[in-house]
Amino acid sequence: MKIAMIGAGYVGLVTGTCFSELGNCVLCVDNDVEKIKKLKKGIIPIYEPGLDELVHKNTKAKRLSFTSEIEEAVQVSDIIFIAVGTPPRENGEADLSSVEKVSSIIADVMTEYKLVVGKSTVPVNTGKWIKRTMNIRNTKGIDFDVASNPEFLREGSAINDFLYPDRIVIGVESERAKSILYELYKPIDAPILVTDIESAEIIKHASNSFLATKISFINAISILCERAGADVKKVAEGMGLDKRIGSDFLNAGAGFGGFCFPKDLSAFIKIAEDLGYDFRLLREVEQINEEQKKGIVKKIRENLWNLRGKTIGVLGLSFKPNTDDIRYAPSIDIIGELIKEGVKIKAYDPKAMERTKKIFPNITYCKDAYEVCDGSDALVILTEWDEFKNLDIKKVKDLLKTPIIVDGRNIFDPETLKEIGFVYTGVGRK
Ligand code: UGA
Repeated sequence: MKIAMIGAGYVGLVTGTCFSELGNCVLCVDNDVEKIKKLKKGIIPIYEPGLDELVHKNTKAKRLSFTSEIEEAVQVSDIIFIAVGTPPRENGEADLSSVEKVSSIIADVMTEYKLVVGKSTVPVNTGKWIKRTMNIRNTKGIDFDVASNPEFLREGSAINDFLYPDRIVIGVESERAKSILYELYKPIDAPILVTDIESAEIIKHASNSFLATKISFINAISILCERAGADVKKVAEGMGLDKRIGSDFLNAGAGFGGFCFPKDLSAFIKIAEDLGYDFRLLREVEQINEEQKKGIVKKIRENLWNLRGKTIGVLGLSFKPNTDDIRYAPSIDIIGELIKEGVKIKAYDPKAMERTKKIFPNITYCKDAYEVCDGSDALVILTEWDEFKNLDIKKVKDLLKTPIIVDGRNIFDPETLKEIGFVYTGVGRK
C-alpha cells in the first residue's frame, strides 16, 4: 500500500518505518526541512533501539523515503496518516492547529479517494473536525474517509510494540476504511478492535490516564509503606499477582515523565472539563506525581541535613531507560530544585546528556557513573538504566565522600547496601 506519514516526529518516524518494514511504500513528510535533509542522509534525529537499522534497511529497499513536500505525498498515497505534533497549550488542552492545517492541505490537493487516519493523540471529536475541515474545502466532491488509529508505542521499545502489540484499535465510519486498515494490519498478529471514531480517540487518552493512575496509586502506597515500615516492592508484587490488577506499571519511584503521560493527563482533564465533567481523580493523579518528585528532594535533604555547597551525583536523566528523551523527566524538576538550594550537580546518563546540556549547561557531566560518584556527598538514582543496576557497588562506596544513596527507582536491594555500609533510602522501602 502507498502511505503518507505526515509528521516525522517520534510517532510518525517509528510508525512509518515499521509500515515500510511490513512491505508498504511509505513517504514520511515533515515541514522541518533540516530534519528531512538529515533523514535523507540516514541521520536519525532520535535514539530508539533498532530504529536506525530499520530506517536504513527500508530506505535502501526504496520502501521508505522522506520529503518536506506534503502535496506530493498526498497525491501519491492511498492512506494518509496524520502524526503531527499536538503540543499542550498553557491550559493543558492540545494545540490542534497543525492537524487542521494538514487536513486543509489534503482536501485541497486530493484528486481521488483518500483514507485520512489520525495517529496523533488528539481530543475526542478531532475526527469530526478533520472531516468538517476537509468537507468545506473539498469543492470537487472527491470521496474520502476519516479514521482514528491511536498508537500505543512506548519509547525505548517502540518497534517491538508496533510489531507485537496487545491490540490494534481502529475507529472508522465506513466499511471501505475498515477493510483498508484491516488489510494494512494483516501481517500483524494481534486482536483488532473496530469502533466508532470517538471511542477510538477516547481509548487512547483513557489508556494513558489509567496507566498514570496506576503509577500514582503505587506511589501513594509507597508513602504508606515508608510510614508503616512495609516494602512497596513486596506490596506491588502481592497486588500484581491478582490477574485483575496485573503487575505492570506498579513500580513506585521518582514519578512518571515523558511527553505522553503528563501531556495526555492534562489534556484529558481539559477534555472532561469541556464535556462538563470535573475529572477529580486525574487531577489527584497529577498532584501525587508532583509530590513524588518533591519527595525525592526531601529524602536527599533528610540525608544530607544542609544542602548548600554539597555535591550530589545524579545517575539517570532521561524520563525512563533506553531513550534520550528528557521531556517532563523527573530529573529536570529534581535537579532544578537542588540547584535552587545551592547544590553542585555531577550527572551521567548513557544517552540523554546532550539534550540535558541545553537545560542545565552549568552542571558537571561525567563520562560514567564512577566519575559521578567521585567526591560526591550523595548519589541519587533517577533512571533505572541497566548499567546502573550492575555497578561495582563497593567501588561506588569508596569513591563517594559519604556513602549515601537515594534510590529514586528502587534498583538496589536495601539490605545488601546497608550491609556494605551505605546509608540507603529507596522509595516506599524500610
Ligand atoms: C506511554 C504509554 O506506555 C504508551 O502505551 C503510549 O503509546 C505512549 O505513552 C504515548 O502516548 O505515546 P512512554 O511515555 O514511552 O509510553 O513510556 P512508559 O513506559 O509508559 O513510561 C512513562 C513514565 O512512567 C516513565 O517516566 C516511567 O519511568 C514511569 N513509570 C512507568 C513508573 O514510574 N512506574 C512504572 O511502573 C511504569
